[in-house]
Formats: sequence, structure tokens, C-alpha cells
Amino acid sequence: MNPTVSNSKNIDESRQGEAFYNTDSEVINHGNLKQFYIESYGCSMNFSDSEIVASILSDCQYRPTRDIESADLVLLNTCSIREKAEDTVRQRLRVIDKMKKRRPGMTVGVLGCMAERLKKTLLEEEKLVDLVVGPDAYRDLPNLLGQVDDGDKGINVLLSRDETYADINPVRLESNGVTAFISIMRGCDNMCSFCVVPFTRGRERSRDPFTIVSEATHLFDNGYREITLLGQNVDSYKWIHPETHETYSFAKLLELVALIHPDLRVRFSTSHPKDMLDDVLYIMARYENICSYIHLPIQSGNSRILSLMNRTYDRAWYEDRIRAIRKIVPDCAISSDIIAGFCTETEEEHQDTLSMISWADYSMSYMFKYSERPGTLAARKYTDDIPEEIKQRRLSEIVAMQSEVSLKNLTRDIGHTFKVLIEGDSKKSNLDFKGRSAQNKMIIFPKQPGLKPGDYVQVLIESATSATLMGRIVPN
Ligand code: 5AD
Ligand code: SF4
Repeated sequence: MNPTVSNSKNIDESRQGEAFYNTDSEVINHGNLKQFYIESYGCSMNFSDSEIVASILSDCQYRPTRDIESADLVLLNTCSIREKAEDTVRQRLRVIDKMKKRRPGMTVGVLGCMAERLKKTLLEEEKLVDLVVGPDAYRDLPNLLGQVDDGDKGINVLLSRDETYADINPVRLESNGVTAFISIMRGCDNMCSFCVVPFTRGRERSRDPFTIVSEATHLFDNGYREITLLGQNVDSYKWIHPETHETYSFAKLLELVALIHPDLRVRFSTSHPKDMLDDVLYIMARYENICSYIHLPIQSGNSRILSLMNRTYDRAWYEDRIRAIRKIVPDCAISSDIIAGFCTETEEEHQDTLSMISWADYSMSYMFKYSERPGTLAARKYTDDIPEEIKQRRLSEIVAMQSEVSLKNLTRDIGHTFKVLIEGDSKKSNLDFKGRSAQNKMIIFPKQPGLKPGDYVQVLIESATSATLMGRIVPN
């Protein structure tokens, strides 16, 4: 786990290694079906991809299990975003290799970004895996598994310009039955200099909006009450109708999804400051069920560093976007991603990041030390010259500043009432429910009879920490 992150959620590390299973599948008699076990690392997109993989495997005689010991097929859906994420997976592979020695029939596969980045190295040098499948090659899994059964290794790391898995109905694994992710696009064309994603996930492409609306409608009909539209840069979503040539922007897609039902909450992630324009904000303002929350990563508060990062905006532009949010969606919460100790960053430039956290009043942030990734623009052009202890100290200052700002931000909610979607029992007590406000703030409150996950309640906030609000249900 990354000890440097102050919030309860961390895009990459907090959900590392979560195993998926499907409760329904455990009560059905599956005869002689083989069992697969999948662990997912990294971002929400990877978790969403694992549900696509589960769907493809379910169509070829596999069923999910939560018990790694009984699995015929063990898959790790991996993340390459920082070195530490890759190290965690390597360690895990060694543990799994020991299991495999005891059970030689077991097949082990690496999926996702590490598969794409390391390709044959994983098969040849490390010899820990039988199967290496990149993010655009999941449809080939049945064929690759056949090759493994025939005694060969299975590898497909081809990236695609058009694969969006649009027609695949994800198998919802490890689901609370209330909230779900829907991928609306894949890849990224941005080339931020620190980032490996454009290399591991390929070119950006958008999914047919009608398949997105139908997936969301299906989820709503099955009791889900919140969907999060996922993409590396949702604001650059663009789909052109092959017959009418009509263009579907992200604003238009958001509106189509919001119109499914007023009780279906709509969220989205991630927004890019250069592409997040007022059209999306006006749609957010128009529909109550589009949640007032934007994850708008700044990365650095200093314009010179932003330019080295190739973020294509400067601090003034970012501040203008925040002002636009405040004006058009006044109750909107904003969160961020921040990198400490990027190449050549000075103390003054680091101070600019600290002042930005305070100025932007982020409700929370995901905070990281810069980790050089082979092949990226920054690795080729700049020296990773900030010593580890300075990176660590700057990160600690960023975390401390964000905690202070989060606490102030959340404390302001005390005395206010929020509409909360109940997600389930609180982690600490089954006498309490947990749920989130439209602003994506986690709220804990005592249960009342007759209420269940998926219901909406009004909660009056009575106290706050830097990560959570506590309150009680009040009448509508
Ligand atoms: N080092 C540290 N953090 C990184 N991120 C992406 N690449 C790196 C890297 N090389 C962070 C960015 C991005 C988030 C998903 O991960 O803040 O927004
Ligand atoms: Fe990486 Fe930048 Fe694309 Fe995000 S927008 S995935 S940080 S290249």
C-alpha cells in the first residue's frame, strides 16, 4: 500500500489485488466448468476491464471463483503507472508460482498494462506465466487458452485502433448491486510526459453511445442506482454516427445517460483541464442526477513544470476552469491528482503546488511521488534528478496540506443536509450505513428500519474528519 496517500481511496494502490467473484455464480450448478480467479490492480478502468474479461471467459466454459486455491486459471490484471505498482505484481507472481509448483495444471496469466509493457519478458525471462494478454486483446483469450492447453505459451499484446468491447455485457463482479462503472472510451492521445498509459493502452477511441445508454439502462433495470462513465480523458469523447454523421460529444453523451431515469445517478472520471469546457458544466447544472463532482487532476501548480509535463495548460488556464465550475455548478466538489518531485522541480515550484491545493479547495486528492517510467517522454528527455528524500518530503507536505484543506472543506458541510445514495453497511459497524453525497463525499449514518442499499435518504451532517462525514437521516 502507498503510505503517502491521505485519503481512504487511492486510484492505484488502495484496491490492489482485489479478487473478483460473483455471488450468483456460486449458487448455480456449473457442472464441469473450469474456474477462473482474477485479481485487479490499478485504476478503475482495469477493474472495469476485468468485468469484460469475466464476460468473455463466461462464454467459454469458465466461471469465476473467489478461491485462488481451487482455480484452474489465475489472472492478474496489472498496472504499470508507477514502478511500485509493477513491483507489487512481481511479488504476487512469485507467490502464485509457488502455488503452481504444487498444482502444475494451473494456468497463470498476466493481463493489462504490464502485459503490454513487458510483453515477452514476462514469458521468457521470468518464466512465471503461461499467458500474456494486452488490454486490446481480451477477445483472443479463448484461443490463447487453447494454445496453453496444447502446451504452448499464449501471447497477444496487439493494440487496436478501434476495439472498445462495445458489444460485451460485463459480468459484474464484486458488485454492491448499487454502483457500477461503464467504460466509454479506451486509450489516451495526450502524451503527458510522465505517463506510460498511451504506450500500454494505445490510441484513444470512443465507444458507440447507444451501447453505453443500453448498458446503463440495463443496470438501472437491475436495481443499480449510480453509474460512473470511465475514460482516461472523458472530455475528449467523440463518436460520429456512421450513417447520419452526427457527432456525439461528451456533453451529449452525459445528457443521454442522465435522461435514462432521474433516480439513476451519473458520475464520470477523469476530466482533463485542457478539454473540460463549459458545455459539460451546463449539462451538469441542468440535470439533478448528474453528480456535482469533478475529478480534475492538476499534477503540478507550477506552469513551468506543467509545460515539462506536456499537460498543455498552465496554472492560469486551470484556475479559469475552476472559476467556471464554481460559477456554473456552484455546489460542485473538485478533486485532483498531484505528482511530487517531477524532474527539475524547485522548492518554489513545489510551493506553487501547495498553494494550488489550498486555492482550489480540493475535497480530496490522489498524491504520488514521481516515478520514472521507461519509454515515456520524460524518461527520454529529462533526468529524474530530485533525490528520493526530497520527493518524499515534498509528498508529505502535499499530503499534509491536502488533509488540512479536506478537513476544512468537509467541516463546512456540518449542519447541511445531503441526498445520499445508500451503498451498504459501513466498514466499521453493521449498525451504520455508508453512502455518498452528489459531491462524492463518503457519509456514515445510523441505519433505520425499512431502508436498504440503493435507496436515497436525506442526511444531516453532524461531524467530519478529513475523509468522512457523519450524520443522521432526516425526513425528506
Ligand atoms: N509517476 C507518478 N505518478 C504518475 N501518474 C501517472 N504517471 C505517473 C508517474 N510516472 C499519476 C498521475 C495520474 C494518475 C493516474 O497517476 O497523477 O493522473
Ligand atoms: Fe496519462 Fe495524461 Fe493520458 Fe492521463 S491524460 S492517461 S496522465 S497521458
